[in-house]
Amino acid sequence: MRSGTRDGRKAMPPPPPTVLVVEDDPSNRALLVHLLRAEGYRVHAVADGEAGLAAVATAPPDLILLDVGLPGVDGYELTRQLRLDPRHATLPILLLTGRTAVQDVVTGLDAGADDFIAKPFAQAELIARIRSALRLRRALVGMEAAHAVVTALANAVAAKDAQTERHCERLALTAARLGSRLGLPTADLDAVTYGALLHDVGKIGVPDGVLTKPGPLSDEEWLLVRRHPEIGARICAPLESFAAFGPIIRHHHERWDGGGYPDGLRGEATSLGARIVGIVDAFDAMTHHRPYRRALTLTQALEEIRRGAGTQFDPGLALVFVDELAVDGAVLAEPTPVGPFALLAQHLHRVDPAGAKGLRAS
Ligand SMILES: [Fe+2]
Repeated sequence: MRSGTRDGRKAMPPPPPTVLVVEDDPSNRALLVHLLRAEGYRVHAVADGEAGLAAVATAPPDLILLDVGLPGVDGYELTRQLRLDPRHATLPILLLTGRTAVQDVVTGLDAGADDFIAKPFAQAELIARIRSALRLRRALVGMEAAHAVVTALANAVAAKDAQTERHCERLALTAARLGSRLGLPTADLDAVTYGALLHDVGKIGVPDGVLTKPGPLSDEEWLLVRRHPEIGARICAPLESFAAFGPIIRHHHERWDGGGYPDGLRGEATSLGARIVGIVDAFDAMTHHRPYRRALTLTQALEEIRRGAGTQFDPGLALVFVDELAVDGAVLAEPTPVGPFALLAQHLHRVDPAGAKGLRAS
């Protein structure tokens, strides 16, 4: 995490995490409150399940330490009720219990608890488990924020150019699928998915009249359109994960023979992620109608990809891509979420399986 702001001022340290303790035994409750405060946590303590639910509704904590054997709504039921609310999906819930038989543990995990702490507990272990659960929570919250930013940008491109709206979503799914066929590690798959989703984000900087022009473009207008990879890379540069997917945005229009733009890179000088998005992008454009030309059939488009192998496209990659689609055109179009797309799909309200099936529809 960065410690300073861009203008050099020191950032305020984040407030300490808040722990909600739900425990009916007064002496245990007092002990937990004392322990946690001594560790620097802010602590709120209540004696039963109903009060626990009310406390979460009023001021959601960063973690709940929950006794299982409570009067009324017990720890399992409270956990179940909290997990029904998507706002509490990543809220760490640690169950404190004297019952550690396998069936009790299974019941707790099924209810949605994150961890178990057996009573009587060792203080050092309790604190270590809380620290670890909060660390995981911070990572998840950070990921959610990153996904929200990427989604907002993707939606901005869609709003600008309705024609490419489904195109970016299809591309993210298809590129991730091709990447996973190639056996890319998870981090690279994530980068390919983000890069595919945002590859045309630079079109935000291209005038509307040019983007939506029904006829062929003039030379001057082409120059404007060809700036979109650079503009896109500049827009995304402040994002934390830019180093991973920025080159995909900048280089998705490079060609294997060096005749692409903006940098005229040749062969493997263009990253594999950019080569994947480049080929999937070209294929998707071929198989969908544009105002200035009709869509090609699947067979015609595959022939075009084959013809472009070694000139426009990485020949090895073109082979894998054509093989996949020639065997079964639907393989790459299945809407199964891959990598970060499962999370992204929750934010992208327009994503649905029909969008992914567009590959076959033309
Ligand atoms: Fe593009």
